[in-house]
Amino acid sequence: MKLSVFPGQPLRGTLRLPGDKSLSHRAALFAALAQGESIFENFLNAGVTRAMLEALTDLGIAWQMDGQTLRVEGRGLSGFAAPAQALNCGNSATTLRLLAGALAGSGIPSILDGSPGLRRRPMRRIVEPLQQMGVPVEAGAGFTAPLHLAHRPSSRRLTGMRHELSIASAQVKSCLLLAGLGGNAPTEVVEPAASRDHSERMLRLMGASVQNTPLPTPGMDGTPKSLTRIAPGDCDLQPLQLSLPGDISAAAFFIVAALITPGSDILIEHVLLNPGRTGMLDVLLSMGADIQVEMDAANEWEPSGNLRVRYSELHGQNVSGDTVVRMIDEFPAFAVAAAYAEGITQVRDARELRAKESDRIHALEELARLGASIDEQADGFDVGGQAVLTGGLANAQGDHRMAMALAVAGLAARNPVTVEGAEIISESLPVFSAALQELGAQVVIST
Ligand code: S3P
Repeated sequence: MKLSVFPGQPLRGTLRLPGDKSLSHRAALFAALAQGESIFENFLNAGVTRAMLEALTDLGIAWQMDGQTLRVEGRGLSGFAAPAQALNCGNSATTLRLLAGALAGSGIPSILDGSPGLRRRPMRRIVEPLQQMGVPVEAGAGFTAPLHLAHRPSSRRLTGMRHELSIASAQVKSCLLLAGLGGNAPTEVVEPAASRDHSERMLRLMGASVQNTPLPTPGMDGTPKSLTRIAPGDCDLQPLQLSLPGDISAAAFFIVAALITPGSDILIEHVLLNPGRTGMLDVLLSMGADIQVEMDAANEWEPSGNLRVRYSELHGQNVSGDTVVRMIDEFPAFAVAAAYAEGITQVRDARELRAKESDRIHALEELARLGASIDEQADGFDVGGQAVLTGGLANAQGDHRMAMALAVAGLAARNPVTVEGAEIISESLPVFSAALQELGAQVVIST
């Protein structure tokens, strides 16, 4: 599928986005581990969350999706049934890594597999620490999926221990916390900088004992290392009833769209504003972006609020250190904002971008095809701001976020932008084109 976006129209109006992808994954999986029925409103119904739900079906978990409302009948920490086939995690590394932790705790034999794209993603980061905890897990050649988990008697508890991660990763942390629920002692995860804490917040709501503490030792770029500690789950997790705020990483595309398109003024309502996810907002504000943040009334779970975004003249800004962790999914969108800004933007400490759905440093050559000046670096990239791109043809590189970022670049280019392989967008945001159109953009879909 090809998606063409035409320049010229200012974006106007109000947008409400489907629930956050990270929250939706956790909601479905954690609800399966609770005892009883959980209900989630504004659940993200997209390719990656379908992969999680279908894997749960294979594990004997009943769920029902009615519009955007998901109901899950949880069967407790040891309630999974042995799957009859390999669990297909599709394109979703979150599904595979979080499920690996939950299955490790349960002792159920299983195989975790996925698309060719997922089979390229690094899994050593979960396999080795799980093995250290006593999980009988093996990976394919080069520490990639499929992962094979052998049966482990549930009476033999895993070894609760401290793990020192060399990268900040919420997927790895969450995997180990879930395994830690089946530990014989607390499990601790130390990260060089604090990654998103959604698992901790949701597990606490369910009655688990989880704490995050900054450590005195300096980690990434001098910021404190982060310690997360979970106690073994010796009692039932409580089911949940939650309304999920909109996805801030999906909002990122519309934020950049409004910032670069002259005359734009949009409101994005009820979006997740967890501080572990708002790095791009902070950086854009420092680049001169006109973004007004209005927080929703405080709740004990996840912060959320409204964002009003107006066209702005941006200037380049450098990004490094723990800010990178707080905007790790936003770099494709951010690169587009940087390309339209005055002056140079340098991104560093971001080698982890090479391990995402595509190599998101190298894949920026697609933005360069549209006229942006991009200089690839080992752990980041430089964007030479130039205020206008020429447009043309670019390829999504099998990456939903690259596809949406490239499409947005067309809104302010001299010529339309056509993105090949745009069907991948449905992995995380099937409503992307419709939402862009509703805000006034001229969008054409062709085969
Ligand atoms: C996610 C964490 C991030 C992010 C991914 C979702 C999560 O990955 O890139 O899209 O839901 O925990 P890492 O933890 O590997 O950085």
